[in-house]
Amino acid sequence: MNFFTAQCFMFLTVLIVVSSSRVLELSDKFIDISNEGMWFVKFYAPWCAHCRRIEPIWAHVAQSLYNTPVKVAKVDCTRFPAVAAHFKVRAYPTIIFIKGPYHHEYIGERIKEEMVNYAQRMSQPAVQRVSQADSLGYLKETHPVFFGYLGKQKGPLWEMFTLHAEKYQPHTWFYAMSHELLKNDVKIPNETAIFVYKEDDAYFFEADETVFEDREALNVTLDKWINSERFGLFPKVTRSNIHELMNIEKYIVIAIVSENKLNEITQTERDFKDMIESIIRKRKRDLHDKFQFGWMGTPDIANSIAMSELTVPHLLVLNSTTGHHHMPDDDPVLMTPEAVSIFLDQVHNQMAPTYGGNSWPVRMYRGFYEARTTLTNMWRGNPVLTALVFGLPLGFLSLICYSICCSDILDEEEETQETHEKKD
Ligand SMILES: *[C@@H]1O[C@H](CO)[C@@H](O)[C@H](O)[C@H]1NC(C)=O
Ligand SMILES: *[C@@H]1O[C@H](CO)[C@@H](O)[C@H](O)[C@H]1NC(C)=O
Ligand SMILES: *[C@@H]1O[C@H](CO)[C@@H](O)[C@H](O)[C@H]1NC(C)=O
Repeated sequence: MNFFTAQCFMFLTVLIVVSSSRVLELSDKFIDISNEGMWFVKFYAPWCAHCRRIEPIWAHVAQSLYNTPVKVAKVDCTRFPAVAAHFKVRAYPTIIFIKGPYHHEYIGERIKEEMVNYAQRMSQPAVQRVSQADSLGYLKETHPVFFGYLGKQKGPLWEMFTLHAEKYQPHTWFYAMSHELLKNDVKIPNETAIFVYKEDDAYFFEADETVFEDREALNVTLDKWINSERFGLFPKVTRSNIHELMNIEKYIVIAIVSENKLNEITQTERDFKDMIESIIRKRKRDLHDKFQFGWMGTPDIANSIAMSELTVPHLLVLNSTTGHHHMPDDDPVLMTPEAVSIFLDQVHNQMAPTYGGNSWPVRMYRGFYEARTTLTNMWRGNPVLTALVFGLPLGFLSLICYSICCSDILDEEEETQETHEKKD
């Protein structure tokens, strides 16, 4: 391919991308019209690599949301810094859902399904009413997790439910329904009740009688409960949700595997991951309020928590309040579901060995470990560049040190010489 055809080819692909993308390109004028309707906006800079990476995904998001009231758009913040300042954009890319005066920054994973789901949820009222049994069936099939309110829609419990639905709308779904609708599925304890539905099971919000009578206490208790129950039975744990998981005051049980670029894992890893998942499925009634299960597709985060290079597959249990971690003594691959179950009971009874934590020596060591890992990875990826990046400044530094020390000596010599001359 010669230079000219290459140019033509590039020009054509650019044309195709532009014409097939449903992403609106916004300018400074957006500030005046952002209050009208609903917007899902990507704030980007042309030079930022992360922005370029989500460009095609963003086009797909726009395509999926094309027939909805949500307008998908992007703003080049280098050309329109006023817009970036107006929406307090501090990093690129930033994705914000704008609905009238409300701005919600999207912090989830930057994959199409998640972003489309999020925009669809945010475009609707925080609490939606369900009136037919088949819509409930549809919800169960399509939502891995949702929160429900049963009974008459007034009173303190209802008020608190709507309040928290608004707060947690960026994360999950909230529905209100009558008793009759759920009667056949579960035994309903009270006149009004709140439950979370997770994969074929409803778990009710329960508390002491005093909590239901005290607004403040109900506010705090319900908030904690919703926050800790909003994750699925076995979600993928990533850099974007691990901090949220560490706020739920349960033990976090993580099966660690290592996905390749096509998100594939080996048979051994798959068996191990399925085995861990089977434990929470079998024992969900007695484990789920103390343990949150999940899996990781890369050992990176786990390595930095454990401060050593873990073999995959592996099992890690985090204490989300203290930051300590637990690991089985045996090779996790050789463990039976029964052995893992026993290990979890030991963790819960505080009989299992405890490592790490958040005390300052541990944090210092972890910082040291991370710096060393980063350096090793850089060295493996590109030794020449690493040598340059660290060698050059070091070289300059020693040059500067050398010149400072030597110039002192020189100055002294000059001074002594001068004084000598004067004496002469
Ligand atoms: C029902 O109400 C009582 C107190 O009024 C409370 O203790 C109990 O937890 C409630 N149960 C549910 C599932 O809401
Ligand atoms: C509930 O608690 C939150 C803080 O967690 C507070 O902002 C809100 O005003 C409280 N609401 C009520 C009705 O007490
Ligand atoms: C974490 O450790 C503390 C202190 O050992 C303990 O009180 C707590 O129950 C543990 N579990 C969780 C889930 O925080």
